[in-house]
Amino acid sequence: MTTTATNAGEISRDNYSFLQQHVLKASGIVLDENKHYLLEARLIPIVRKESLKTLNDLCALMRATSAGRLSQEVVEAMTTNETLFFRDIVPFKVLRSTLLPPLIEQRKSTKKLTFWSAASSSGQEAYSLAMMLCEMGLQDWNIDILGTDLNEKMVERARHGAFAQIEVNRGLPATHLVKYFERHEMEWRVKLVLRRMVRFEKFDLRQPMRMLTSCDFVLCRNVLIYFDMDTKRSILSEIAKTMSSGGYLLLGAAETTMNLSDAFERNAIDGASFYRKK
Ligand SMILES: C[S@@+](CC[C@H](N)C(=O)[O-])C[C@H]1O[C@@H](n2cnc3c(N)ncnc32)[C@H](O)[C@@H]1O
Repeated sequence: MTTTATNAGEISRDNYSFLQQHVLKASGIVLDENKHYLLEARLIPIVRKESLKTLNDLCALMRATSAGRLSQEVVEAMTTNETLFFRDIVPFKVLRSTLLPPLIEQRKSTKKLTFWSAASSSGQEAYSLAMMLCEMGLQDWNIDILGTDLNEKMVERARHGAFAQIEVNRGLPATHLVKYFERHEMEWRVKLVLRRMVRFEKFDLRQPMRMLTSCDFVLCRNVLIYFDMDTKRSILSEIAKTMSSGGYLLLGAAETTMNLSDAFERNAIDGASFYRKK
């Protein structure tokens, strides 16, 4: 294994396997053999914070305090939380122009729509949906957007709904920033009109989802890539159970239901894939 100048990245084969197993069990994330650089980047800050010297020391402490705060911190550090407002834009455009209008017509009497942002990270996807629905004049509808994530820190951040300048610079139109956020010291806070539509909960995608039924749209983007085939299959099967027939699942650009689930039919619209629940 490679080492940094201070040797903080030093890790034995046995400890590397221990971390692989720990992360897999706690999150489903498959950590390949060649991810030593990732372990260093994500875990050396914890090594330093705990006043330890190396990744080997961190593993020793984790073994001694199994299932404790440190073990959770390690798993959270290994999750990739990259996200941005209106990520990949086309899915949002297609939702607005093609998928939502007939459903809105159909729901005129109940005025109810349900969305699940599965693996919502710090909440930008859920808040993007809320902004899109407001722009469509649906702020008075009974909108339920549930954002869920395994990483407790991300769930807290999403609930807090405050974003740094660098985050609002990514994907958020200036008009939306002015309309839906208010400046508070160094942060931009989401206004009440969006907060009322959105809620966030900690949830492991590998568990059965009991918080939602008859979901109209599920966005589960850029997370399946981290799991093995069996885990992807079982997550897709659970997602299908939460959805209404005719509802749509949106995956990340590098993800598909192909060879994983028969519950969906793929529709390609404007170059993006949408999976219609059969
Ligand atoms: C790359 S982010 C994707 C965020 C957002 N969906 C997007 O596309 O912008 C992946 C998220 O998946 C979450 N995650 C990883 N394993 C998970 C699991 N087993 N259950 C729920 N969320 C998980 C991570 O904490 C992280 O926030």
